[in-house]
Amino acid sequence: MVPTNPDKLGVSRHHNCKINTIGGVGARGRSPAGVRLLLMVVAQRYGEGHRILLTGGAGFVGSHLADALIERGAHVVAVDNFITGSKDNVARLVDHPRFTLVEADVSEPLPPVEPLSARFDAIMHFASPASPTDFEQLPVEILRVGSLATLQLLERAVADGARFILASTSEAYGDPLVHPQPETYWGNVNPIGIRSVYDEAKRFSEAATMGYHRGRGADVGIVRIFNTYGERMRPDDGRAIPTFITQALRGEPITVHGSGTQTRSICYVSDLVRGILLLLDSTATGPINCGTEHEMTMLELANTIVRLSDSTSRVALIARTADDPERRRPDLTKARELLGYEPLVGPEEGLARTVAYFKAR
Ligand SMILES: NC(=O)c1ccc[n+]([C@@H]2O[C@H](COP(=O)([O-])OP(=O)(O)OC[C@H]3O[C@@H](n4cnc5c(N)ncnc54)[C@H](O)[C@@H]3O)[C@@H](O)[C@H]2O)c1
Repeated sequence: MVPTNPDKLGVSRHHNCKINTIGGVGARGRSPAGVRLLLMVVAQRYGEGHRILLTGGAGFVGSHLADALIERGAHVVAVDNFITGSKDNVARLVDHPRFTLVEADVSEPLPPVEPLSARFDAIMHFASPASPTDFEQLPVEILRVGSLATLQLLERAVADGARFILASTSEAYGDPLVHPQPETYWGNVNPIGIRSVYDEAKRFSEAATMGYHRGRGADVGIVRIFNTYGERMRPDDGRAIPTFITQALRGEPITVHGSGTQTRSICYVSDLVRGILLLLDSTATGPINCGTEHEMTMLELANTIVRLSDSTSRVALIARTADDPERRRPDLTKARELLGYEPLVGPEEGLARTVAYFKAR
């Protein structure tokens, strides 16, 4: 059984910075990568006293990141226009002295308000609608936040001398022809399809990030996030896991697209957040894949959710959406070697927690 307790990450202090050593993983002979992790030491560069600008901080991933950054002692200025996020996601943080929430559209020039005027140590660009329904309903908003916002935040990162972290996506690989997907694979993207506003905006953001790195000396890190799930997802956002859970809890048919044999590798949000923070603390440029390698078919996912929800729902196969990728699984070699990243939460445990969250809503 893979350890899931974050306390398994031993923390000690050395040369004025926190050192996280990943112990235990691999000690029970699971994998050669795990054995390597025993030796991996990652210095915590960003935390106490650092000012971090987090766009999309009221979203699903952004709010979990905000929690983790506050936990480290950082000052977090979250900027969000709530187009797909919600103040509820950061309700526990709003009165925290080191957390500030600014309502603004980051595709426009940042408003001249005090929390945004002082220098930032790091800028983390996580704002973007990200679900399949958003691709249809918010195409221009997605294009703007994946281009105009990225450019102005990169300018700001250069001006502040801040480390810039870009939330990119496995969608950068499109419907991949190489499996699993290493970062060296350039992808198979339909440039004018229904998903293209998202895929191509993220690919532009990656190009912009590398352009500012090479041309303006920006300190950057790009994370390619694979399907991540967990508490605070929107029940109606059109992504498979919240949709299946909502349907299972209501006893409605679980609507699986196509034959249900297409696969995804699903990552619980705490694993993703740990990977992102490892990238933030590193000097790696990326892009670096982050997710899990555990691949399951959509039918397996639907049946697991039905079981964990104690539901009587049955699967109903419906029409496949355009350009829906057939298989998705990250090659995590680079994340392991450069960051010492290892996902710790398996699908049973993560899905059970997520079902419990939706049940309690
Ligand atoms: N969750 C995943 O599986 C996944 C996978 C790949 C990439 N990502 C990326 O991670 C980031 C977060 O995704 P998420 O799943 O949390 O989605 P989300 O919709 O929950 O969060 C996005 C947040 O950005 C905000 N936002 C969007 N446009 C904005 C704008 N112009 N100005 C200010 N705020 C804006 C939204 O209101 C929301 O709070 C996105 O960049 C997404 O592309 C997520």
